[in-house]
Formats: sequence, structure tokens, C-alpha cells
Amino acid sequence: MTQNELKQQIRQLAEERDALLIAHNYQRDEIQEIADITGDSLALSMAAAKTDKTVIVFCGVHFMAESAAILAPGKTILLPRPDAGCPMADMVTAEGLHELKQQHPDATVVTYVNSSAAVKAESDVCCTSSNAISVARAQSAAKLLLVPDRNLGRYIAAHVPDKECIIWEGYCPTHDRLKTEEIVRIKGEHPDALFMAHPECRPDILELADHICSTSGMYEFARNNPAKKFIVGTENGILWRLKKENPDKEFILPSRSLICPNMKLTSLEDVLECLQKMEPRITVSEPIRAKAQGSLDRMLAAPRD
Ligand code: 13P
Ligand code: SF4
Repeated sequence: MTQNELKQQIRQLAEERDALLIAHNYQRDEIQEIADITGDSLALSMAAAKTDKTVIVFCGVHFMAESAAILAPGKTILLPRPDAGCPMADMVTAEGLHELKQQHPDATVVTYVNSSAAVKAESDVCCTSSNAISVARAQSAAKLLLVPDRNLGRYIAAHVPDKECIIWEGYCPTHDRLKTEEIVRIKGEHPDALFMAHPECRPDILELADHICSTSGMYEFARNNPAKKFIVGTENGILWRLKKENPDKEFILPSRSLICPNMKLTSLEDVLECLQKMEPRITVSEPIRAKAQGSLDRMLAAPRD
């Protein structure tokens, strides 16, 4: 089957199944092309919660489909590649977090959405890269446990100097491997370019950034800024829409290793097969789901940064 035939079959079957196709900004170009909605973690969770469709096909990684299952309990959530995980989310377990909470009973747990449902259920409130600072500032506790991303944690901590922050030592292998030398070199080659960085990058990288934001924040910044050249400090899947929306602008990746292998697993064939078989389904047990929903709802009530 050609790529066009695959795309047509997927769209047709999605209609028949009453399915909404959603894709994270890091998915392969062809997956973003067929999606009803593309977006960052926050936008996609909200879309899953709001849609009238009965089925959601989540082209992304496991924790994202779980977030959809938490926020849209009556719906069927399909994850075309159940093996698409997130190494950072796997760096914290509910048991490990429970132990840390016992050492800091006075702390509020702020957990990045890149985490399992069980970890969200152990948390007080979630955050994403587009609302992390607002969520942290909104907490009345003097002490915060920031879980699981140490880079996002340090970024948040720098913005809430009045609070004591205990930071979990997890990280995103894709963002964490970006090196200062790579940014310095690329900035030297393109002195007229602005550097946008995702807060999952290391603090020394963030220090060099002109703008720090979520993936969707990057679309907004590139659209609204008169600059013609941007260095992009995040996963390479973001380039497809950046280029499409800004044909007169140039986007430069500072490193060839800005690829998340998990985000690239999902193919058109996987999406078609999952719509045909209506599986693999992602479910969350009700006690965990209800608690995790509390953490996500408290996040959704917070303003964006
Ligand atoms: P956002 O899309 O929320 O910016 O998150 C990036 C990411 O790494 C998701 O796994
Ligand atoms: Fe996880 Fe990093 Fe991949 Fe996002 S880019 S899914 S944080 S490994």
C-alpha cells in the first residue's frame, strides 16, 4: 500500500470508528499530517478530555495515553505502539516517591506529566512544560518535591526562590544530551538566530536560551517573533509544523541526536492496524485513575506560564 492509500484508509476508518486522532509534536511528519490535532502534552490531554468522540487514538508515548485515559474515563484510548514509553517517566516509581514523601511530610509534590498514572496518583498536583512555574508558584507549601525531571526541577526552583525545592534525579535522555559546545558553535555560525529551548534541557543550555518554553510555546514564539532564524532546542519532530507555518523562516537543529526513539516508533501501518483491531487499549484502574485525575485537575485549573 502506498503512503497515500494508508492515509486514506486511516482517515476513513477513523470516521467509521468515531475516533479522534491526536499526535504529539514529536511524532513522524506523516503521523502529524493525518492527525486531527497536534500539540504539546497539555493541549493533547485537554483535547482528550473535551472531545465528543468515543475513541481516541493517541500517537505519542504511554504516559500521554494514560493521561487521556485518566481525563476521559468513558472513552476508548488506543495507543498504536504500546512499547512507546518514556525513559524519564520510568525513572520514578510510586513506591520510590512514597518513600521520599515520608522523608518530607510537609512538602507538596509537583509532578511533571511525563510520569505514570501511579506516580500521578501519589502526587498533589501535576505540571507540564507550559505551566510548571505557575503551578509551583500557586502552591502554598514552603517546600516542594519536584518530580521526575531534574532539569525542569532546577528551572522551576530558580523561579520560586522563596520555596525549598527537593529535586528528583530523572532526566530526558534526548534533551539531556544536548551540549553547551553545540549551542555555542551553532550560535557562532548563525549570530542572527534566536535560540528557543525546552526546559528538559540542562541548566547550562537554558542559560544560553533567548526563550524557554514547551513545544507549543515554540510555535507561538516563532510565529510572533519578527526574527527570521531560530535555533531549536528540542526533539526534531517539531520542525515539520514550524516550517509549514513559517515558510519564510529558517529553523536549525543544533544537534543530530535530538531524536526521541520512542516518539518515532509509531508508523502509519501501526495506526491503521490499531483502528482495525481497536487495540492496544490503555486503561487505568479506578482507584489510581481517580487520584491521578485529582492531580491533573489541579494542574488544569492553574494558569499557563
Ligand atoms: P511538551 O510537549 O509538553 O513540551 O513535552 C515535551 C516532551 O518531552 C513530551 O514527552
Ligand atoms: Fe520522554 Fe524525552 Fe521522549 Fe519526551 S522526548 S517522550 S521526555 S524521552
